[in-house]
Amino acid sequence: MRKKLLLGNWKMNKTPSEAKAFALAANEMVDFAVAHDIEVGVAPTFVCLATVKENINPKCIVAAQNVNEHDHGAFTGEISIPMLKEIGISWVILGHSERREYNGETSEKCNEKIKALLAAGMTPVYCCGESLETYESGQTKKFVAEQIRTGLAGLTPEEAGKVVIAYEPIWAIGTGKSATKETAEDTIGFIRRTLRENFGPVAMDIRILYGGSVKPNNVAEYMSQEDIDGALVGGASLEPNSFQGLIDGMLAK
Ligand code: PGA
Repeated sequence: MRKKLLLGNWKMNKTPSEAKAFALAANEMVDFAVAHDIEVGVAPTFVCLATVKENINPKCIVAAQNVNEHDHGAFTGEISIPMLKEIGISWVILGHSERREYNGETSEKCNEKIKALLAAGMTPVYCCGESLETYESGQTKKFVAEQIRTGLAGLTPEEAGKVVIAYEPIWAIGTGKSATKETAEDTIGFIRRTLRENFGPVAMDIRILYGGSVKPNNVAEYMSQEDIDGALVGGASLEPNSFQGLIDGMLAK
């Protein structure tokens, strides 16, 4: 049984004091979600991680938005796994399309990071998704299958079972133009079959999230689909009221 998961990706939003205010406001809603069998989490910026971790309900996942694959060394501007571990962070989003586009993150690099995270007993949330051009040329499945195969290359089935996947079509991110539930399910079902071909039955236990303009008023549609296990949400995860709306929406399906 795959547990539902709602993960807020705050991107480059919120100062530490704003992040702390959200953390304090979120306590009851985290309890509410957990009591209804929904796992919830937020992914603040690096400078807000410790503040959020210290102030939010301990049942809430606090995830980083990236990590370096090396433990330490001459990598100016980077953050390592031991640094995150020391402040109690055990989840990391990897390969978000914005990082792929603006920071040159590749599926090969994500693969190194995923292996390093798994070796450290942490949970990677690996993002995939196609551009509008790829979507319109009917190449979505080929493109996404390649991202999955490369990103998870060399993992054992047991390791693959510990990864969370997020499918986020780039044309739906921050555009208000969400994928229909049928389109999202079609690709996510395909991702599950790709995982099955590569890793066997464990694919049925791997959580796959949909992301891209998920809002309180459309999250239930996605949750009604067989292969969609939750949502990775940007804009609508930033305010406590809207976050509560997402939780309510997930329950409404
Ligand atoms: P959005 O972002 O919900 O604002 O579209 C989703 C994401 O990029 O994770």
